[in-house]
Order: sequence, then C-alpha cells, then structure tokens
Amino acid sequence: SGSGEYTGFVPDMQRRVLMNLIVVAVCAVPALVVLGGYAFYSSGATGDEVKELQSGAFWIDRRFGLGDKDNDRELVQGLKGDAYYLISTPDGIKDFAINATCTHLGCVVPWVRSANKFCCPCHGSQYDENGKVVRGPAPLSLALAHTSVLDSGDIAVSPWPEQDFRTGLDPWWS
Ligand code: FES
Repeated sequence: SGSGEYTGFVPDMQRRVLMNLIVVAVCAVPALVVLGGYAFYSSGATGDEVKELQSGAFWIDRRFGLGDKDNDRELVQGLKGDAYYLISTPDGIKDFAINATCTHLGCVVPWVRSANKFCCPCHGSQYDENGKVVRGPAPLSLALAHTSVLDSGDIAVSPWPEQDFRTGLDPWWS
C-alpha cells in the first residue's frame, strides 16, 4: 500500500539527512576563519606588497603573510592574481603553494584546520591537506605553484609545469 512505501522511505531519508549533517559537521567552516582569510587576502592583494617579478613569479612580503605556526595555511595573492595557500612548517614554508580556486565552479576554498582539509562552502567539495580532491563535485585537484624564499626573506610564487606529485598526472593547469 501507499503507507507501506512511505514508512520504508522515511528511515532512508533520515539516514541520508543524518549523513549530510555529519559531513557538514566534519567540514564545518568556522566563520572567523573564513572572514580572516578573506580579510587577509584583500589586504594582501591590494597593497604594493605583492609585485610581479620578471620571471612571471610573484613575491610576497613575508611580514604580510605567514605566521610561524606549523602546518598552517596562509592565503596570499599568487600567480595571475589568483589566491594561493602557502603552507607553514617549523622550518619555514613548503616548496609548493596550492591554488585556492575550487575546480568545480571557482569559489575560494577555505582551509579547515580541524578537519585537515580544504572544504568548499559552495557545493561541498573537499581537498586533502595538499589540495588533492577527495570529494566531489570538484573534478580535479587544486592547482600547484612553486614557492621559494628569496634572499630578502620574501616569498616568490612561480609556475608549476611539471607532473602533479599528488596524482602522477600531467598538470591540468598549464
Ligand atoms: Fe566548490 Fe562547487 S565551487 S564545490
């Protein structure tokens, strides 16, 4: 009967709702983190502190960005005006940066430290700590760039044309 189908349907829906709630909870983006990230990005992006180098790389005034926290992610203006994450370690920064643009429809993806993931607030895509996609709808991992610390202590971000070390594939972004 109709009511039989209905009672079979409800627990299933409840499970699905519960699963969605769990996914949302694990990847919940603290509002302050998002606001902090955007505030940093806009202040970093509009000053003279980011300049284009002849090589097409960009440098970033170290004062503007990186705390010395281990395994933190700082949003900075990188190549072609895109936002990139630098990754801090106890010894400085990692030698790659992660493009913050979601490969689904282009939202800026916040880093969620508590989940150790990048979690897109727009449609729920998730990327691991190195920007490799682990949950759709995003079809591809976040793009990479090289980083290097200049003699001045500033940080240069430059193109990454080589193989993607996370997937072993040619880079889709170059
Ligand atoms: Fe990120 Fe759609 S833009 S999931």
